[in-house]
Amino acid sequence: MTNAPSTPAPAFPHRHLLGIEGLTPLQILHLLDKADDEVLVSRQVEKKKNVLRGRTQINLFFEASTRTQSSFEIAGKRLGADVMNMSVASSSVKKGETLIDTAATLNAMRPDILVVRHHAAGAVHLLARKVSCSVINAGDGAHEHPTQALLDALTIRRHKGTIEGLTVAICGDIVHSRVARSNILLLNALGARVKLVGPSTLLPSGAERLCVETFTDMKKGLEGADIVMMLRLQRERMNGSFVPSVREYFRYWGLDSEKLAWAAPGALVMHPGPMNRGVEIDPEVADGPQSLIAEQVEMGVAVRMAVLETLAEHLPNA
Ligand code: CP
Repeated sequence: MTNAPSTPAPAFPHRHLLGIEGLTPLQILHLLDKADDEVLVSRQVEKKKNVLRGRTQINLFFEASTRTQSSFEIAGKRLGADVMNMSVASSSVKKGETLIDTAATLNAMRPDILVVRHHAAGAVHLLARKVSCSVINAGDGAHEHPTQALLDALTIRRHKGTIEGLTVAICGDIVHSRVARSNILLLNALGARVKLVGPSTLLPSGAERLCVETFTDMKKGLEGADIVMMLRLQRERMNGSFVPSVREYFRYWGLDSEKLAWAAPGALVMHPGPMNRGVEIDPEVADGPQSLIAEQVEMGVAVRMAVLETLAEHLPNA
C-alpha cells in the first residue's frame, strides 16, 4: 500500500490576525518576509497587485486613527480589493446599536475582510466569533496592536539584519499601551532582550511573567539599548493622574539627545505615533539622524499588505 502524498501545512494557518499571542516565530517571520516583498511593490511606479481583486475589505474603526486606518486602506487598494471605510461617527452605533449588531449587519453584506479597532480589550476577538469573514485587529483597548508590532519588527530587521540578540528599550506609558504588549510578545518570540522604562505608575505589574526587565531610571534602562522605542502618555486610557506634570515627565523620561547618548552607540529611535513632541520626545531626536519614525509609517503599508495577502489565502475560492 502506498501512502497518499500529504499536503504541506500552510506557513500561516490562521483565518484571523487577532494578536501576536498565539503566533509562532516562524509564522511571524513568514509575515515579515512577505512584507519585505511588499516594500519593493510599494516603491515601484506601478503599485497594483490583483490578489484581492473582487474582495471586499471593510475598515471599522471605533477609535481615532491616522496611520493604521489610512495604511490599511492603501494596502487593500494596492492589492486590488474594494475598500470601504466605515465611519463610526456617522453610523448607527451613535443611535445605540451594539458592536455585535453592527458586526452582524456588516457581515450580512458579505465582506471578505474586516479590519477593526475598538476601545475595549477583547472586543475584536468577540467580533471575530460572530462573523464569517477574516478579522484583523487594528488595536483593541490596551490589549494588542499586532500589525504595529510587525511593522516595528520589519523596520528593525531591515536595519539590523535580525531581531535575535538585540536589546530593545520600550519607554514611557507601558501600562496603557497595546503597542508595548504586542511588541513585548513579538520581540520575546524572536529572541530580543526587552527593557521597559518609565515611572513606576506607568510600568505593568508582573513584568517577570512577561519575560522583561523594568527600570524607573532612564539611564539604567537605556544602557546597552540598540533600539529605543518611545510611547506617548495615553491620557484617554488614564483614570486619574499618573505623572506629576508634563514638565517633570519630560525631564526624567522624555528622550532628548543627552539621554539618547546613554543608549548603545548609534541606537535607533522609534515611535509608533501619534507623537507628542516635548512630552515623551524632543523634536531634535524625533527628526534626527537616528530616528526611524517616518520609515515605520512606510513599513506599515507593507506589513498590512502582507497580512491582507496572507489571510486572503484562506478566503473561500482563494
Ligand atoms: N500607531 C498607531 O496606531 O497610530 P494611529 O492611532 O494613528 O493609527
